[in-house]
Formats: sequence, C-alpha cells, structure tokens
Amino acid sequence: GIKIVTIGGGSSYTPELIEGFIKRKDEIPIREIWLVDIEEGKEKLEVVGDLAKRMVKDAGLDWKVYLTLDRQEALKDADFVTTQFRVGMLDARIKDERIPLSYGILGQETNGAGGMFKAFRTIPVVLEIIEEMKELCPDAWLINFANPSGMITEAVLRYGSFDKVVGLCNVPIIHMMRESELLGKRPEDLIFLFGGLNHFHWHKVYDKKGNEITEDIMDLMFKENKQVVENIRNIPFLEEQIRHLGMLPCTYHRFYYLQDDMLKNAIESYQKGETRAEVVKDVERELFELYKDSDLKEKPEQLSKRGGAHYSDAACETISSIYNDKQNIMVVSTRNNGALPDLPDDVAVEVSSVMTAAGPKPIAFGKLNAAARGYLQLMKAMEELTIEAAVTGDYGAALQAFTINPLVPAGNIAKKLLDEMLIAHKDYLPQF
Ligand code: NAD
Ligand code: G6P
Ligand code: MN
Ligand code: MN
Repeated sequence: GIKIVTIGGGSSYTPELIEGFIKRKDEIPIREIWLVDIEEGKEKLEVVGDLAKRMVKDAGLDWKVYLTLDRQEALKDADFVTTQFRVGMLDARIKDERIPLSYGILGQETNGAGGMFKAFRTIPVVLEIIEEMKELCPDAWLINFANPSGMITEAVLRYGSFDKVVGLCNVPIIHMMRESELLGKRPEDLIFLFGGLNHFHWHKVYDKKGNEITEDIMDLMFKENKQVVENIRNIPFLEEQIRHLGMLPCTYHRFYYLQDDMLKNAIESYQKGETRAEVVKDVERELFELYKDSDLKEKPEQLSKRGGAHYSDAACETISSIYNDKQNIMVVSTRNNGALPDLPDDVAVEVSSVMTAAGPKPIAFGKLNAAARGYLQLMKAMEELTIEAAVTGDYGAALQAFTINPLVPAGNIAKKLLDEMLIAHKDYLPQF
C-alpha cells in the first residue's frame, strides 16, 4: 500500500481531498495518510483530521490517518506528498490583498503584488520540504497545490533541482465542466487543449472528430457568461478582443483584460472590509464549526463556497494517473519542453499533458499570435524574477518583478508598495 503525506493538512479543503481518495479507493491502494501542519494550525488539524478519520471509517476503509506536527517523521518513505499550506495563514492573505488596494493597486492571492508576496513566503518553505524529501523519500512525487502553484512548481524544478513535481489548479477542470454544460455535453465528449501559465492560460476545444469548436463555445460564453470559480466575479470579457485572440481565456484573465473593472470591484470590497481574504475567513469559521460535529461524516455542501472546489479531482486523479501509468490527459504545471515554443524549454507552464508513470508529458500547444505571445512572455519573465527574488532575497529582482507585473504600476509607487509589504510580512521572509 502507499503512503500519502499532505502538508498543510489543517486546511479546510482536506475533506475534499479525502473524498477524492475514497472515490478512487479501487485505483489507489492507500495504506496511510499523514496530515502535517504546524503549531499555529494544530487546532484546525485536529478538527479536520478527526473528520478525515470519520470519513475513512464511514467508507469502510482500513487506511490509517495520522495527524502530526513532525514533518520529517511524516515524510519518511512517503510515496506521494501533496502540499496545500498557507505560510502566514489567512492573516497574511489579508495583507496581500489589502496593502496593494490601499495604494489603489490590485491585490490578489495569486496575481499582482499579493501573489508575488505569497511566492516570497512559500518558496523558501517548499525548498526546505524538497531537501527533506531528497533525504527521506527520494522516489516520492510532490503534488503541489500551494499557490502561486505555477511559480512554486518552477522553483522546485529550477532551484530545488527536483523533477518529480506536478503543479495543480482546479480552474482548468471547472472550465471543462462549465463549457461542456453549455453545449449539453460531458467533458469526456470533448477534447480540450490548454496552454499558458497557472491562472494565465488559454484553451481551444475540439469535438471527438477533431473539428475545432472553440468559436461555438465563445458564442455561448458571450450569451450566458457563467461564473467559473467562486472567488472571481464574472464581469463579461470584451468580445472583439476575445474573438481576435481566437482562444478561450481563463477566468483569471479578467485581472488583465479587464484590469480597470476588476480593480474597481476590488476597491469596493476593500472599502467594505470584504476582500476575498476577509470573506474566506468567515467561510472558514463556518466550515470548522461544521467539522466539529462528530455526526458529520462527509464533505459538507458549504465547502463549495471556496474557490478551490473540485481540486481533489486534480490532486487524486494525478496520483492515480502516475501510480497507474494511465496515459490520460490532464492540465498541469510542468516543465515546458517545447509545448509553448514562445517560451524557454525549462520554465514551468500549465498545459494539457499526458499523465504517465514518469510524470506529465506536455502536449504541443504551438506558437501564439502576437496578442497572446507578448503577454505570455511578459508574465513568464515576471514569474522568473519573482522566483529569483524569493530564492535569493535580491531587492533589485523583486523591484524588477513588480515593475514588469502589469497589475503593479512602475516607479516609486512600486518601490513604496514593495517596502511596505516587506515590512508587513517580515516574519515570513527570512531571505530578505
Ligand atoms: P489555510 O489558510 O487553511 O492553510 C492550510 C494550512 O497550512 C493551515 O492549517 C496552516 O496552519 C498550514 N500551514 C501554514 N504554514 C505551514 C507550514 N510551513 N507547514 C505546514 N503547514 C503550514 O489555506 P487554504 O485556504 O486551505 O489553502 C491552502 C493552500 O492551497 C493555499 O496555498 C492556497 O493558495 C492553495 N489553493 C490552491 C488552489 C489551486 O488551484 N492550486 C486552490 C485553492 C487553494
Ligand atoms: C481558485 C483557484 C485557486 C485559489 C482559489 C481561491 O479555485 O484555482 O488557486 O486558491 O480559487 O479560493 P478562495 O475560496 O480561497 O478564495
Ligand atoms: Mn488555482
Ligand atoms: Mn508593473
């Protein structure tokens, strides 16, 4: 049987993960699940860990579920390590979102200045985990979910020199679900081809005969404009722009293509004390109240108020695909290797990939038109600089990353914002 370790086990998403494993009980022969957290998360770990144990027991399974604060003990001989931790907890996210907004600049947990600071806090920890994995479970795979997922994956590949890593996000899955619904079909009836970066990818869609139907979905999208994830308001894209692009954007593209409206919306939330981080704090409180009920033995409906709904379909399916050498297609963050020829081979991209026992094999997405290529290259350079700053603590690299990021204005305002955020987060930034 296999040993699974989940770092950040106290997350309110853990029941979603456990449900995903239970659904796949015949595909993944689990022996042990270790939920790891830190002192500050101890209470959450106990509450959600007890629910995890009840879920496993209720499903009639004999898996052992361990709760621990000892990461190294957990990592020993692991087969799969999943990461879903949040360095600095939700209070750090509140700062990531509110400080930029106090300057009239978009703050978001994966995009803009907030996402960059989340990378600064998370990358040192993930690289520590990698060093421990090399020692304690060198053959294990790291399935990363911690955001910004694409940048964390690239940090592991490039600076951790560790190849057995897959970065995940639930957004591609939800796009596939919603767009199939629009056509009255199931996702398995269609062929989706994704290319780009985490929270910055485009996709094309084909029917089973190989005819492209991207335009048909665009027609329906502009007619119905459905919400994709809970945390992003579905302000309609500018139709002429998307038609010219010729590909479907992801919901996070709104921060770029609709920067003004998204910023306006974020500032309104900021003024009401209702940034997403603050809303999530309330949702989390409600969830943990429910989790405490010892009669609860399944993932509660309220968890769907979180943006990460369906993430276990990515995480558990990735584990099953690698374990069973399934050769199925999934959208993951992995090394480019030519899938997007407009980017270097060794950077992380989020692309449709064939999932094998040797990891994801990215499928060629091809060269992009100028509209997509220019933005993609800019965003990748921003990510590279952010990762460099996260690893080295180089202030100049951080300022370059801020400058290049289209969501952060350049000049002295960028420097002021950077300085304020460095102070606000200093407890979690040993490298600076
Ligand atoms: P959360 O605030 O509940 O944090 C999860 C746990 O991490 C907490 O219990 C906390 O104590 C723990 N933690 C903090 N620092 C740690 C450390 N150094 N080692 C181990 N554990 C630590 O977070 P959440 O809202 O459940 O989200 C978890 C993570 O997953 C975040 O990074 C979030 O951005 C990410 N996420 C990713 C996606 C995606 O699409 N990839 C979707 C949703 C959430
Ligand atoms: C989406 C994204 C995640 C992000 C989440 C936020 O699902 O894919 O990467 O972390 O939403 O959700 P939340 O409920 O925390 O705002
Ligand atoms: Mn995501
Ligand atoms: Mn900028």
